[in-house]
Amino acid sequence: MDARRPLMAGNWKMFKTHTEAVATASELLHLVSGVTDRDIMLAPTYSALVPVGEALQNSNISLGAQNLFWESDGAFTGEIAPGMLKAAGCEYVIIGHSERRQYFGETDGTVNKRIRAAIEADLRPVLCIGETETQRDADETFSVLDKQIQNGLQNFALADLNHLVVAYEPVWAIGTGKTASTDQAQEAHQHIRSLLEKAFGQDLAHRTRILYGGSVKPDNVDELMQMPDLDGALVGGASLKADSFGRIVQFQT
Ligand code: 13P
Repeated sequence: MDARRPLMAGNWKMFKTHTEAVATASELLHLVSGVTDRDIMLAPTYSALVPVGEALQNSNISLGAQNLFWESDGAFTGEIAPGMLKAAGCEYVIIGHSERRQYFGETDGTVNKRIRAAIEADLRPVLCIGETETQRDADETFSVLDKQIQNGLQNFALADLNHLVVAYEPVWAIGTGKTASTDQAQEAHQHIRSLLEKAFGQDLAHRTRILYGGSVKPDNVDELMQMPDLDGALVGGASLKADSFGRIVQFQT
């Protein structure tokens, strides 16, 4: 079976105006134009999706969104529909990021609805999961991941999940400069893959890319990406500058 193709994704969170986002995306394009052996994705904020999508057209960088609502249209002030993201040129959508769970009331139940809506709109969902520091200290990491995977992916058929991407982002490592050690990350990724195997079989588990997120930087990416179950990265702060993200994208193992 083919090895999993790495996916290196930048989550720009609530940073950059559309003009700034286009400038960084264009700079990055130059830096990574020769990269052919891995996938690259940028997820700018909503107002930047269309212009960044235009800048990335016919390139090796895909566009992603940071969230979506599950209804196709309607009176839902402040929300954005899957079809709108698709029309803006998105290929991926991040779902259930810990900041959404922490600040905006996202639950495994709403995550499940958003994933279904993404799949129906032919968007590739990037399902984010991960434990808090308190949960890790209480030895609950695996049980938290079990629950997030089971409930987040409840009632899906195997065929629905062909384009699923999972991102393991330990909450204590996000934006803190504390990275999971290679062993901690590998252990969690291996556990997630075993959960996918139990629920959906070996083939899907083997094919699904599991990204690591949490203080990934140019100086730790090479080591992290050596681990067998790390299939890419979801990068926040270090993706905001083209040279830093360009280096991360071109990790060497
Ligand atoms: P940092 O890379 O800034 O820690 O953020 C990680 C993240 O939340 C990506 O989604």
